[in-house]
Amino acid sequence: MIADGHTRRKWDRAAARYDFMVAGGQERRWTLPKRALFSTMGTGPILFVALGTGLDIPHFPADRDITAIDISPAMLERAAPRVAAYPGRLRTAVMDVRALDFPDAHFDQVFTACTFCSVPDPVRGLRELFRVLRPGGTLGMFEHTGSRYFPFKYLLDAMTPLSRLVGPDLNRDTVSNVMRAGFDVFEVRPVFLDIVKTIRARKPL
Ligand SMILES: C[S@@+](CC[C@H](N)C(=O)[O-])C[C@H]1O[C@@H](n2cnc3c(N)ncnc32)[C@H](O)[C@@H]1O
Repeated sequence: MIADGHTRRKWDRAAARYDFMVAGGQERRWTLPKRALFSTMGTGPILFVALGTGLDIPHFPADRDITAIDISPAMLERAAPRVAAYPGRLRTAVMDVRALDFPDAHFDQVFTACTFCSVPDPVRGLRELFRVLRPGGTLGMFEHTGSRYFPFKYLLDAMTPLSRLVGPDLNRDTVSNVMRAGFDVFEVRPVFLDIVKTIRARKPL
């Protein structure tokens, strides 16, 4: 059990302006790569981590069985109409990804979008995803990360102390974090430079 009131309050505060900030150009740009990633959702039990206001829901294939969590009750409140409109099974719960209230090996697949830039202690969260996935189960992520290249690396490093105050870190090495949590990474696809990417990984058998 983690009592992280600071993270919860930060995202509760962000909830009211979140759609205004990201639902325009940014979300439209990510439609195709998000749809491609979520099209790998199978028909078994799926965990979706950090639903936010539910902007990802219209990109989910229909008729899936999805449990979606978020640390922020205010985000999930705003997601409610999109949750209700999803043509399949979609239930939500307020939960911290670093302390999931699910048994071991409970899910076939886990998906995230723009999440592991925000979770404090990301490897701890990724280890929880590893625990709740069945052996052979897959993790699919749409994430923005730090960059290896000049000048982006320095810009993202310099901006992170500020961005962290209101939202995400901009300079995380999420692919390495996924490997550190025990996953086998089998696909990394660039979406924008080496900053926005999809990552697919498997829990070894
Ligand atoms: C940048 S938003 C992304 C929301 C949504 N996936 C999207 O792309 O619009 C990050 C989300 O991560 C959630 N979050 C941050 N830390 C978390 C944690 N430890 N456990 C669960 N959710 C968390 C926040 O509440 C927020 O909704």
